[in-house]
Amino acid sequence: MMKIAPSILAADFSKLGDEVRSVESAGADYIHIDVMDGHFVPNITMGPLVVEAVRKVTNIPLDVHLMIENPDKYLQAFADAGADIITVHVEACPHLHRTIQEIRKLGVKPGVVLNPATPASILENIIEDVDMVLLMTVNPGFGGQSFIPGVLSKIKEVRSMIERKGLNVDIELDGGIHAGNAKICMEAGANVFVAGSAIFGKEDRKAAIEEIRSELQ
Ligand code: DX5
Ligand code: ZN
Repeated sequence: MMKIAPSILAADFSKLGDEVRSVESAGADYIHIDVMDGHFVPNITMGPLVVEAVRKVTNIPLDVHLMIENPDKYLQAFADAGADIITVHVEACPHLHRTIQEIRKLGVKPGVVLNPATPASILENIIEDVDMVLLMTVNPGFGGQSFIPGVLSKIKEVRSMIERKGLNVDIELDGGIHAGNAKICMEAGANVFVAGSAIFGKEDRKAAIEEIRSELQ
């Protein structure tokens, strides 16, 4: 089942509630929320307060992508704010197994994120414990960047690791995804597609989501 997760990083924050409702009624599967701390990545965005505000206006799952140092410190706050999925970067978690178990203990689905230069092999001893692997297809920090095609071979590697181990783990992609590259990404093995500018950058959200979805057949 292919899923589309609009990233509110590209939304108009002066009317965030309306923006979230616009993609929900246009058929979004998840709302992707990018949390950046100005340390792990160069940009600063939003925290638990925004997750809580989004939670109030939608019932679809909130997919919270933590691009922060020391995420362990904030897991409880994001769980309380209403996150359904929390993904943490392997590059930010020295005790990754502990962090993943902690997310699950909070009743939230855990996922791990790999930056473009981080190899798939790092998943070998953690993939059994997660619900989703998020592969960055840009260097995290900003919306509107170009898709890095070199990640395609990593998508294939992760999909074959999942098959080899007989697991049911989603592969999500994030960064530079649009109708023009969604199909090749799906064929490589991805099934959850984050899109910021390709959805919120367009006036007609329904048309934008349908354009991507029509490629995912
Ligand atoms: C990048 C963020 C992405 C970003 C994607 O660091 O994690 O979720 O919002 O934006 P687009 O789709 O515009 O590349
Ligand atoms: Zn993201």
